[in-house]
Amino acid sequence: MRIIRTTQALRTWRRRQDPPGTSIGLVPTMGALHAGHRSLMQRARRTCQTVAVSIFVNPLQFGPAEDYRRYPRNLSQDLASCREEHVDLVFLPEPDTLYPRDFQTTVAVSTLAQRWEGEHRPTHFQGVTTVVTKLLNLVRPARAFFGQKDYQQYGVIRQLVQDLDLDTRVTLCPTIRDADGLALSSRNRYVTTSQRQRALALYQALSAGKAAIGRGMRRADPVEKRMAKILDTGHGLDVEYLACCDARTLEPLARLRGTVVLLGAIRVGGVRFIDNLIVRIRQ
Ligand code: PAF
Repeated sequence: MRIIRTTQALRTWRRRQDPPGTSIGLVPTMGALHAGHRSLMQRARRTCQTVAVSIFVNPLQFGPAEDYRRYPRNLSQDLASCREEHVDLVFLPEPDTLYPRDFQTTVAVSTLAQRWEGEHRPTHFQGVTTVVTKLLNLVRPARAFFGQKDYQQYGVIRQLVQDLDLDTRVTLCPTIRDADGLALSSRNRYVTTSQRQRALALYQALSAGKAAIGRGMRRADPVEKRMAKILDTGHGLDVEYLACCDARTLEPLARLRGTVVLLGAIRVGGVRFIDNLIVRIRQ
C-alpha cells in the first residue's frame, strides 16, 4: 500500500494510473475509520481496479464552536484498516498541503446545501464541497463512495459533480449500524453510554415513520407527528429537524410519493446525531 502526503506526488501517481480501462475508486474520509468506512472500501474494491482512500480531518468543514481539535484521530489503526481492505493508495495530506497560506477559493452548492444540516451548520457544506472538489481533481476517480448516514452530503456532492461536469460517478453505500440500530460514526467514540442510549430514539423514530409509510400512510404530517412523539417521550434530547423529504431535492413533502427520505438530527447533551431512512413508495 502506497502512502502519499503531497499533491505533487499524488499527481505523479495519478499520471501513472492512466492506461485505458484502469478505474480508480476514491473513498474520501476524515479517518477514525470504522466498519462503515470499511464497507465503502470493500465496495470500491469490488467495483474498481485501484482503490484510493484519503484521510484528512478537513478544518474547513468545522464551525468555530465545533470539534475540529477533539475530532478522533488514530492514524496507525486507520492505516492497518486500509491494509486489511487491500487499499492501493492512502492520501494523507496536512492542512497546509491542501490549504496553503494564500488559499482563497471555496466551492459552494446553493439550495441543496442550505436546508437541514445547512441551517444548523452554515459553513459545513462549503468546507465539504471545497475539499471534495480538490480530492476529485487530484485523484480523478471513476467512482467516489459515500455513506448514506450523511445523506444530504451525498446529495450535495452529487449536485457538485453534475454542475461542475466532473467525470466521477458518485455512489451511495448503505449506512452500517451497531446491533442496536445506532448508525456508525467516528464521533460515536466520544459519547457516553447514556447519550448513546438516548440517541437510539432517533433511529427508532425514523423506523416508526418508515413502518407507518409501509402501512399506507401517504401524508407527511401524521408520519412526522408519529416520529416526533417517539423523540418526545422523556429521552432528554433536542430535535433539530425531523422531516419527510423528496430524496433528490430534499424539499419537505406534504404528500408522500416516489422515493422519500426521512431525515433527522438531534442533540443529546451537546452531542449531535444525524440519521435517515429511505422509503421507496410504489404508486
Ligand atoms: O464524510 C466525511 O467524512 C467528510 O465530510 C468528507 C466527505 C471526507 C469530506 O471531508
